[in-house]
Amino acid sequence: MIERLHDPNFRGFASDNYSGVLPEVLEAIATANGGHQKAYGEDVYTVALGERVRQVFGEGARIYPVFNGTGANVVSLDLLTPRWGAVVCARSAHINVDECGAPEKISGVKLLPVDTPDGKLTPELVDTVAWGFGDEHHAQPAVLSITQSTELGTVYTLDELAALSEHAHKLGMRVHLDGARLFNGAAALGCSLAEVTTAVGVDVLSLGGTKHGLMGAEAVVVLDPDVLAGPKHGEFVRKLDAQLSSKMRFVSAQLLAILGDDLWKRGATHANAMARRLVDAVRDTVEVTQEPQANAVFAVVPPTVTERLQRQYPFYVWDEATGEVRWMCGFDTTEADIEGFAAALREEMGRG
Ligand SMILES: Cc1ncc(COP(=O)(O)O)c(C=O)c1O
Repeated sequence: MIERLHDPNFRGFASDNYSGVLPEVLEAIATANGGHQKAYGEDVYTVALGERVRQVFGEGARIYPVFNGTGANVVSLDLLTPRWGAVVCARSAHINVDECGAPEKISGVKLLPVDTPDGKLTPELVDTVAWGFGDEHHAQPAVLSITQSTELGTVYTLDELAALSEHAHKLGMRVHLDGARLFNGAAALGCSLAEVTTAVGVDVLSLGGTKHGLMGAEAVVVLDPDVLAGPKHGEFVRKLDAQLSSKMRFVSAQLLAILGDDLWKRGATHANAMARRLVDAVRDTVEVTQEPQANAVFAVVPPTVTERLQRQYPFYVWDEATGEVRWMCGFDTTEADIEGFAAALREEMGRG
């Protein structure tokens, strides 16, 4: 046994990755433990996950469990692009700003970032960079990558997603969805996971798990099997990109748990509700810059207040220049967290 080194009552709003692991997920890991199972994804839990994913996303869906979200994005983009391929994304996209250049260096793609007011692309915005088709001097726009819910806490409607996919497909491009917070997006829209992905024309999905109470478990889900050039295309790319887990049963067991009995919906609905509650609690104290559509809250706070407040409740400054900060809620955010935080914010604002 090890000694507990952290204070389990210390909480914050920095990231939905700061949370712990859902009890149901720890239980799933324990259930999958014991005895021997084939390695590298030939175990019974990974097989069962494959079946579950076909039920959830549609008959054509294939799942490739991976370790982290950057890895899921790298594998997804690698699967979808030729060596001369380019990827259109929002400038605020995680693949553009938060992955240390991994998509460029590992997937070998050129990113074509586009400024957006709210993290959401539109067909018109895509057209500002998706051109030069057939011209050997231009990296060829091969993929449209969108994020749901977005890095700015906004949520694409189903019609917006369908219009984007249709547009990308007409241009001969494939559609990748970074779904690190897919569950929050689906919960906000009140729709199923298939409705917000397969049904609106997404070809490949990076399915987030860690932010929702899993432990180092994410996945690439190929929704259109025509993306795969051969029976082992997905497996080869995942291994090449260093995302093949040998003891995959423990990653798969977690994904099985979150995709079963609507566990994802419970956590994501709660996280979204907590973000709305947080906005209501701070609206009279600070300027809220984006109405929360999912589980993120953005507000402008004087830097001195931010500095003092961060000592009590960790959170990130989103924009140093404007003082905009980001507060993330998660499946484990409590009403008491919000009341405590709002009170601390009021007190620090009062001190100036
Ligand atoms: C939109 C988005 N995509 C992907 C990721 C996954 O990143 P990581 O490699 O840290 O798991 C994150 C995590 O912050 C994210 O916010």
